[in-house]
Formats: sequence, C-alpha cells, structure tokens
Amino acid sequence: MCSIIGYLGINPAAPIIVKGLKRMEYRGYDSVGVATFSDNQIVVRKGVGKVIEVNNQAKLDQLAGNIGIGHTRWATHGMVTDVNAHPHPSSAGEVAIVHNGIIDNYDELKKNLQQKGYTFKSQTDSEVIANLLQYHHDKTKDKKKSILETVNHLKGNYAFVAVFEDGTLAAARMHEPLILGIGKDGYFISSDVLGFVEHTDEVIYLDNKEFVMIDSRGIKIFDFDGNPIQHQITKVSKEFADVYKGEFAHFTLKEISEQPKTIANAANNTKLELDLAADFVKHARSLYITGSGTSYNAALIAKFLFSRFAKIKVEPVISSEVQFSPDMFEPQSILIAISQSGESADVLEAVKFAKNAGSKIISIVNIMTSSLVQQSAISIGLNCGPEIGVAATKSFTSQLAVLYKIVDKICGGCIGLEFDNISESIKKILSDDSKIQEIAKKFKDVSDIYVLGRGIHYPIASEASLKLKELTYIHAEGLPGGELKHGPLALMDSNSYVIIINPNDSTYNDTLTSAREIKARGAKVIGISDKPSDAYDFWIEIPAINEALYPFIEIVPIQLLAYYAALEKDADPDYPRNLAKSVTVK
Ligand code: AGP
Ligand code: GLU
Repeated sequence: MCSIIGYLGINPAAPIIVKGLKRMEYRGYDSVGVATFSDNQIVVRKGVGKVIEVNNQAKLDQLAGNIGIGHTRWATHGMVTDVNAHPHPSSAGEVAIVHNGIIDNYDELKKNLQQKGYTFKSQTDSEVIANLLQYHHDKTKDKKKSILETVNHLKGNYAFVAVFEDGTLAAARMHEPLILGIGKDGYFISSDVLGFVEHTDEVIYLDNKEFVMIDSRGIKIFDFDGNPIQHQITKVSKEFADVYKGEFAHFTLKEISEQPKTIANAANNTKLELDLAADFVKHARSLYITGSGTSYNAALIAKFLFSRFAKIKVEPVISSEVQFSPDMFEPQSILIAISQSGESADVLEAVKFAKNAGSKIISIVNIMTSSLVQQSAISIGLNCGPEIGVAATKSFTSQLAVLYKIVDKICGGCIGLEFDNISESIKKILSDDSKIQEIAKKFKDVSDIYVLGRGIHYPIASEASLKLKELTYIHAEGLPGGELKHGPLALMDSNSYVIIINPNDSTYNDTLTSAREIKARGAKVIGISDKPSDAYDFWIEIPAINEALYPFIEIVPIQLLAYYAALEKDADPDYPRNLAKSVTVK
C-alpha cells in the first residue's frame, strides 16, 4: 500500500527521503509529502500526484535539515487532496506524522481531542495520531510516555513515523510492516527495505506492538508496555537492490520476460521445506488454500492438481471471505496461504482465523521477511526476486511451480514435471511477440473482453481477465467454456472480443465448440493454442507440452497482450490507477 520513510543522520534528509519514496512507488499511491526538522521547527510540503510531479512543484527535496519523514498515500479516509496528503502536523505543529494503515477508532478520538481544543485540517484518520501524540506530550512532557499512551489508545492496523520538535524520530508498528535500517551515516525507518537498501543492508525488523525512538545518540526499541527490547541486526539480501528496469521499457515487461529463469528458480526451491510441506499435507485432517487476486487464481489451479494427481481434496477460499465463515477451519487442518508480498491484510486475517481454530499454516511467499512468514509453520519461497510491477506476472508462475512441486512430491513424481521444457517454451513465446502486439492494437477501443477456458484452464482465464482489467482498464471476464450457453452467450456480438484458451488436451474439442458458437454470433475470436483452427480470427501459437503443464505457458501471451494493450491505451503498465502492490488494508 502506501509507503512511509524516516531518516536521521549526517546527510540532508529530504533528497534521501524523496529517492526512497521513488524506490517504493511500485507499492501504489495517490499523493506525496515530506516534512523535515531544521532550525527548531518542522516544515511540511505535500501534494497530489507522482513523486516527480509533486517534487517539481513543491521542491520536496530542497527542504533543509538532516532529520525528516516522508510518505506516499493510498487514500482510505478522505478524498485525494493536498490537505489530506501526509505528513500531518499536530494542531500546535510540535509533532508531525506519516501513517500507513487505518485507525479504526479515529472518529471517537478526534471528537475527544476536539473537545480539548485540538484542531484538525484533514479528513483523514491519520491526523488523529499527530494530535494524540501532541496531547499526551502536553500532559506528560515526555516523548516515550506520549508514544506509549498514544499506541495504547489507537485501535486498528498501523505503522507510523513521527518527528518531534526537538528532532527526535519515533515509529510504531501494529500489523503493518516497519523496518529499521542501520547505516554508517544515519538511521532509516521504512515500510519497505527498498526505501533505503541503497544506503545500508543492515536492518532490524520491528515486531508488532513495538516502537522505536531515534535521536543523534542512537536507537531505543520498546514494546507497547514500555519494556526495552533487544533485536538482532540482520543483513538483507543484496538482490533487493536489483530494482532497475535495465534494457526494458517497464518493470512489467522485464518481469514477464524473466519467467523462464524465475520458474526454474522456484522449482529448485529448498528441498527441506518442500518435503516438510508435502508431509504436512499428507497428514492433514482437511486442507484449505487461500490467497487474494492472482494468488487466489494460483490456489484454484492447486485444487485441480491436488485432486487429479494427489487424490487429495483441497478447498480454495478467497482470503477476504474467510471472516464470514469463521467456523470453516478445524484443529489439525492445514491452510496453505499464497501471497507474493506476504503482507496482504486479507490473507493475514484468514491466517489468523485458521490459527485460532488450531490449524497449521504453510505459506508460499516471495518476501521471506514478511508478516505471513512469521505466522507460518513452514514457508516456501518463490525465489523470483523483487516484483515491482503492480500486476503480478512472474510471481504467479513461480507460485504454480511451487504448487506443482508439492503435488508432484506427494504423488511420487506422477506429473512428469519438465521445468526445462517449460522455460524453453516460454522463451519461444517471448522471442517473437509481434503478432501479440498487432492484436493489442485492436484493443484500443474495445470495451469488453471475455476469456474462456475449461478445466484447469478456467483459473487461467480468470487470471488473464485480471491482468487485462488491471493493465488496460478494459472490462474483462473469465468464463468456464461450458457456461457460455447458460447466459453469457447473450452478450456476444460483433463488438465482442473473446480469448479462447485452447491447448490440445482433453478440453480441446469442447472449447473449440464454444469458439464456434461465439464466432457464429459475430464476435472476434483469439485462439491461444498449439493447434490452428478456422474458428480463430487470430491465432496465438503456443508450443505443445505435457498436458498438465499448459497453465505455465498459456498465461504468458496474455500477460504480454495486456501489457501491449496498456501501452496502446496510454496506461502506465507498472502502476495501474487506483491499485497498490501490497494491499495492507482490509
Ligand atoms: C495481481 O496482479 C494483483 N495486483 C493483486 O490481485 C494481487 O495478486 C493481490 O493483491 C494479492 O497480493 P499478494 O500476492 O501480495 O498477497
Ligand atoms: N488511512 C490513511 C489515509 O487515508 C493512510 C492511508 C495509507 O496507508 O496511505 O490517509
């Protein structure tokens, strides 16, 4: 979701903060702001727009001082306006904060503070943190006490960084990520390692219900009862610094193109974790699998794999729906939680319900330092490197690789996994995407796209439609082929475009029949298949492969199609509007 950052050191803070915010842009945001402390006062500059735009206009990086905080906002409470952008100073201006998350009881706190004479400028929930800190500081004249009182009155999920009028930085964590960077020239505090990894790779991961106070003398960490806490400094992998686009025009294209390599990396995952996971699953009383968005689509593929190859029943559940069936889990059941970021609030909530019921968690996750990993009995890494594009691409195929490996282990190698062959097939698709680019041009003025698949290809159709929605803003819908005649056929006319996922396997003939039914209604049919047919107006060829492995390769041309169509529509493929990479609010 949004990003927060704080810096205190020997260098000018504002340029470091602005650069850090730029590095974290992929997380999604709508407004930007920075506050620094200099000459005994806190100065705030902020506005709506991209980091570069707001910086050009408000000269964020020219703020003076060696201490500061910064924020990119993804609005939850209050419109996207300059006033609602963070940082928010307290009404007396003696403290300013940046906040990530939601304060559930802000309304009640705000009314109390207003009655005591504290004033508010914004419509955000966040401003209450600034005035609450100010109120408790006015009362206690003690920064530590004022933070303790504040966190003990706040309800909700949050991470915030505050700068006080004497230049002290403070930050607190409650179910939102917060990482401390220990550099030679200063301290950093951020929601994402990428915010500061170019300055230091020595970090401390704060736990929930902890806060840190930073001044020129050093750092002090406490729990929410005020007890001092000691943490080990860990070194983050330098690969986190690998966040450049290189020769590619966009991260999304880079990440799509990395898949031959990233699938192989995921497949070569730590054997120990895979063995353990397979063993857990075999002995589970019941098995559930969860995720959001793309990760949920991977869960749907897993359902097919488990039942067909391992003869194990698994129930896929959308993470955000779990809270409405709280009795679903039982002791000794296993929940497999899939998440690229490991920070999706919905997934963490589902995990909480499962754990409360006595279930064990196996997670499949890219960010191995994430909250989800901390909640899991076993975590299997995707190993695909940072994914910056908001639309998940390489993380999806890596999730599939891990799921296929687990099932293959359970069934004693019955799937016939050929990861080299998968990688080679994807390379072939990537080597010539000229036809895909031509088709993308047709999408410029299209308002609806349907994607059809049967069996294991239906979740791929759902994933394809998600990619098209996110990247092109065109309405897209994934459909199981057989359902066409039960309703959606009514929508087909000469304005419709339908993508048919039709590899030469047991679904082939039935899906071809659906393609013909659609064509007969005048719609344009794009066939993704290893076999040509006169039913297709456009044919995107994919290489033939072992029947079970088509999902890995058939999604790639659609990722490319969505990417190129985004360019046709002048949409930014890396940062789709209204979306965030890591959705840390419910
Ligand atoms: C994927 O393209 C989307 N950006 C989104 O659906 C994403 O998959 C979802 O928010 C889950 O994220 P996670 O895997 O990090 O938990
Ligand atoms: N809830 C806060 C707001 O709407 C913070 C949102 C965020 O995490 O960016 O301003």
